[in-house]
Amino acid sequence: MKPQSSPFIAPATRAAADSTPAVDPDAANTPAIGVPLPHESAALHVSGAAIYIDDIPEVHGTLHAAPGLSRHAHARIVSLDLAAVERAPGVVAVLTAADIPGENNCGPVVHDDPILADGEVLYLGQPVFVVIATSHDLARRAASLADNEDVVRYEPLEAVLTARDANANRQYVVPPLHLTRGTPADKIAAAPHRLAGTFEVGGQEQFYLEGQIAYALPKEMDGMHVYSSTQHPTEMQLVVAHMLGWPAHNVVCECRRMGGGFGGKESQSAIFACIAALAAHKLHRPIKLRADRDDDFMITGKRHDAAYDYEVGFDDHGRILGVRVEIALRAGFSADLSGAVATRALCHFDNAYYLSDVDILSLACKTNTQSNTAFRGFGGPQGALMIEVLIDGIARELGLDPLDVRRANFYGIGERDETPYGQRVEDNILEPLIDELLVSSDYRARRAALAEANARSPVLKRGIALTPVKFGISFNVPFLNQAGALVHVYRDGSVLVNHGGTEMGQGLNTKVAQVVANEFGLPLSRVRVSAADTSKVANTSATAASTGSDLNGKAAEDAARKIRERLAALAAKLLGGDAQHVVFAGGTVQSNGTAWPFAQLVNAAYLARVQLWSDGFYATPKVHWDSKTLTGHPFYYFAYGAAVSEVVIDTLTGEWKLLRADLLHDAGRSINPAIDLGQIEGGFIQGVGWLTTEELWWNADGRLMTHAPSTYKIPAVSDTPAAFNVRLYRNDNAEPTVFRSKAVGEPPLLLSFSVLLAIRDAIAAAVPGTRRAPPLRAPATPEAILDALDAMRAHATISAGGSPTSGTDQGPVAETTVTA
Ligand code: MTE
Ligand code: HPA
Ligand code: MOS
Repeated sequence: MKPQSSPFIAPATRAAADSTPAVDPDAANTPAIGVPLPHESAALHVSGAAIYIDDIPEVHGTLHAAPGLSRHAHARIVSLDLAAVERAPGVVAVLTAADIPGENNCGPVVHDDPILADGEVLYLGQPVFVVIATSHDLARRAASLADNEDVVRYEPLEAVLTARDANANRQYVVPPLHLTRGTPADKIAAAPHRLAGTFEVGGQEQFYLEGQIAYALPKEMDGMHVYSSTQHPTEMQLVVAHMLGWPAHNVVCECRRMGGGFGGKESQSAIFACIAALAAHKLHRPIKLRADRDDDFMITGKRHDAAYDYEVGFDDHGRILGVRVEIALRAGFSADLSGAVATRALCHFDNAYYLSDVDILSLACKTNTQSNTAFRGFGGPQGALMIEVLIDGIARELGLDPLDVRRANFYGIGERDETPYGQRVEDNILEPLIDELLVSSDYRARRAALAEANARSPVLKRGIALTPVKFGISFNVPFLNQAGALVHVYRDGSVLVNHGGTEMGQGLNTKVAQVVANEFGLPLSRVRVSAADTSKVANTSATAASTGSDLNGKAAEDAARKIRERLAALAAKLLGGDAQHVVFAGGTVQSNGTAWPFAQLVNAAYLARVQLWSDGFYATPKVHWDSKTLTGHPFYYFAYGAAVSEVVIDTLTGEWKLLRADLLHDAGRSINPAIDLGQIEGGFIQGVGWLTTEELWWNADGRLMTHAPSTYKIPAVSDTPAAFNVRLYRNDNAEPTVFRSKAVGEPPLLLSFSVLLAIRDAIAAAVPGTRRAPPLRAPATPEAILDALDAMRAHATISAGGSPTSGTDQGPVAETTVTA
């Protein structure tokens, strides 16, 4: 046998196509919009100078908090004897639910999230008490006494751990969501072909590099200033106020930046903010709570894992005639955001495909595990992955290229364009986008070449897949689609912007600064964005649903435009000319043939008593949703993309490698192509982690055993494919968004489906002689890949007339003789 070159040790060098060098943000003639300006904090990030909450110089007298966690998934607390904890070195106080003056709840929608357990624990890892000590380490040491039988005594109750078990018991955190259109059962029954089956995809830990943290400082007159690493400062302000029984105006929440949020800090920063604020209030001391990584894993919710049952009827071309799916999501012990997540799963099941007759049941199953929450895509990936797997199965059943079956089912233009929830797809660019990707990725030729290569390669098998994405943009709760901003122009012409969004690495502050700089014709360096702060912009929404720049960009534009109009009026008065025709460009203001430096005009405006600051506001038009009928217009527009991935698997070990990925993604008319490409690359790789290496595993007691990087594997830089071609699809948003850009934070995560389906393709190539789709679960760990290979071999053996047992018993070595 000819030795094969080993793709497993290929160096992970990367060649991103559009990695245009970043431009100089200080140059007066650099346009502010549409250019690859560096992230506003790039230099700080790489030099370590960026200040995260744990880097804020501690105020004298700061104490440290650590929660004591439950050791049962479901139990009654029989007794709590904290004397030993109080005696532990460095301990200043130990607090329980009884110390909470207001509401013992930090749940965002339904009030079913205790801050500290009261009488009962609902998952293993739930905070039961909190230790305040002189150092972080001493606090943690004392908190670990929670594991001591004499400290907390429990009476264990029955625990339900999986979505399937909870579903069997009809236990949900919100009522089931059921959407039907047409007569799917009849269509499936009458279809020439049918497939039915189950599928499973795991959850995913957000694994923000900066863990959950809050630092609370008590202020005069029942005031509290909370630094929180949060995507949702307003929510933190409100839950802290409710917990203390105070009006909201007593509490300020501030966040300069997060070291990643990924949805994990949309609601679940709350328990940390509340505990820190509770202790600060009780002890009149500044309190910091920095969750240890293991505690963070044990306490907080993750992406919902999902178990599916499906049934589909289709014609000879693979066109879907009717489809039924049940999506059982593991919600965990409380509602958190699971209702909205289940709704988004339901609204993304169609992905890129027109489904005339469809039945979708989306269930948020109540289990005795961490309360699952937002994670990049927010249920969308869980909805859309199912139909991609389903379509792949249809193609295999019919012996067609999955791409052709996908195209046969794509939404049409002006026909076959209504989603199951009644919104029409009016900005469909799937066909031209796929056409462009087919050329740039050379998909057809590579698929043919791959079949030949596989025929010659007995052990290593290659697979390829192309998958599309259509992702609805807007919060699926309409009232959340609003934002505010505050812009100050100081007398020297420098500009300070505050807006309702939060910076988590995604580049929101850079984009908002670009919008404001553009409005005033200033170089980016003249605009500074300050920390998110509830005392500056009130009643903000979470920075989530990828809407950060759509919403806050527009609000900041509105604020800046008001100031610009006042300045233009003054310029016309001072220089002559018409206010309508005053030009703000290159750091100057021009009217009637005269140009003044921006700062000169600003100072003149100050002296003339012109208001040089303004608020701004934006509310997304068109969106509405009827939560009873599950229909409406939940999304302002759709973002699109597609990816081709090629993998190789080792059929002896189940190891695999991503060899090449070609991503083409629609960010509308990009405000900042450097940032958008980064989001596309990062979202894709994060999705690959979800679908391949990141495996969450609870033992029979409901203890999460994968709670640190030692046992939970997120992608590393070496997992980047050697050939990584990432491009923006040239397109203007059909809707008048800020500069016709599109939201880009979440949709590219779904491009990773191509990797899972490429692995399926490779498994199918390894076991020819059956049209059955490989029963590959996600994450496709080496074990899952070997299990799928075994199942395929067993099936192939039955199909060939052998006995199933001999098929199952065939080891990987025997398999190579089958394919050789
Ligand atoms: N990118 C980085 N670097 N860090 C993050 O935490 N979160 C993602 C995405 N990209 C995230 C990220 C998620 S879940 C969302 S909803 C969006 O960014 C939020 O930011 P945006 O709305 O400004 O795009
Ligand atoms: N995404 C993120 N957070 C949300 C959403 C959403 O669609 N709806 C409500 N909260
Ligand atoms: Mo993103 S999951 O909407 O925070």
